[in-house]
Amino acid sequence: MSEIVLGVTGGIASYKAAELLRLFTESGHSVRVVPTESSLKFVGAATWEALSGKPVQTGVFDNVDQVAHVRIGQLADLIVIAPATANTLAKAAHGLADDLLTTTLLTARCPIVFVPAMHTEMWEHAATQANVSTLRSRGNLVVEPAVGRLTGKDSGKGRMPDPQRIFEFALQALERRAHDLAGKHVLISAGGSREYLDPVRFLGNRSSGRQGFALAEAAIARGAVVTVVAANVKLPAPAGVEMVTVVSTEELRRQMHRLAPDADAIVMAAAPADFRPATCAEAKIKKNAEGIAPVITLVENPDILVELVTARMSKRPVIVGFAAETGDANATVIEHAQAKLVRKGCDLLVVNDVSGGRAFEQADNEAVILGVDGSVDHVPFGPKIILAHAIWDAVAQRLD
Ligand code: CTP
Repeated sequence: MSEIVLGVTGGIASYKAAELLRLFTESGHSVRVVPTESSLKFVGAATWEALSGKPVQTGVFDNVDQVAHVRIGQLADLIVIAPATANTLAKAAHGLADDLLTTTLLTARCPIVFVPAMHTEMWEHAATQANVSTLRSRGNLVVEPAVGRLTGKDSGKGRMPDPQRIFEFALQALERRAHDLAGKHVLISAGGSREYLDPVRFLGNRSSGRQGFALAEAAIARGAVVTVVAANVKLPAPAGVEMVTVVSTEELRRQMHRLAPDADAIVMAAAPADFRPATCAEAKIKKNAEGIAPVITLVENPDILVELVTARMSKRPVIVGFAAETGDANATVIEHAQAKLVRKGCDLLVVNDVSGGRAFEQADNEAVILGVDGSVDHVPFGPKIILAHAIWDAVAQRLD
């Protein structure tokens, strides 16, 4: 039995939280409902007290002797805020603590799931999106709102997903509480390499490093000791991660080989260049008088993933590769990926379908995780942090 805190904030969808509460209690969990003052205008305290079998308070000045604003957060195994209004997302993102729910969020060290529900305009507002990014960057799980009927006659994105879906998602988050990567060393490469032609020009690629950084955040949340080798990533470093920065594929390769012997798991999320210019000019390459364009000779870079697989002892570390694939006349995306998994020799291959430029520079992603043992796990379109957790789920199974 786990201790779940159900935060209910002031939106019309709060009536659906009653069903969510039921799903939690009927599956044997102990649930404490912490509503905000404004949510009680939609569903009253009596409903929550009757359904949870526990008293309900909204402020920090009731029953002060029990120090509820600290205790509730400390004891929680999981916090689910459903519905989460734009106001609560903003307060949580900025660490405001003016009622029992927001103080609880600051004292909790368990997984926190936000289930936003609001009008499309409020969801899409730059302020809300920035707050959601901040929350996700700290490892909180923010569920994408569903599309459908909203309050009144409106419809669009912003609807609270079905309680059953939230329930399943929350239970997954709860399972991660086990800190299944506690004490494990994980090594992640992120970003895209640059191969210089001269002091100012390089061959690069569109990899932003988001997926690699999401993997780092997720691994930290699961108790791992995390090192990221980041190639040209412009994002803030995730808290608690040891960062090593590199530019070229050769530097990335050197750092990965240096760090690999201490790793229990390696994820090659970076996009190293397959080719580099055979030479890098010492001075800027100039146009010539005849107007003849220079010919750039490329040489192939070593495949770091294959080298790491070849260098490892037995099956340690667990090694994960990424594959950005497009289907063609000869084979589907998955068929190409299956062949790549065999070619690379790693344990898992995370396959992104990049037809039409999908997956690059996006906060959301969709992928298939192929296992060398034949497993195929489809992770639906959603935040990269969710895919990151699915990858660690697969890694953790193989570390056992
Ligand atoms: N990779 C690597 N070293 C390289 C190139 C790629 O370690 N020089 C890793 C990437 O980090 C990724 C995986 O290999 O985990 C897949 O890379 P990809 O470029 O998709 O595969 P390729 O073998 O280059 O196949 P393709 O011919 O499809 O480009």
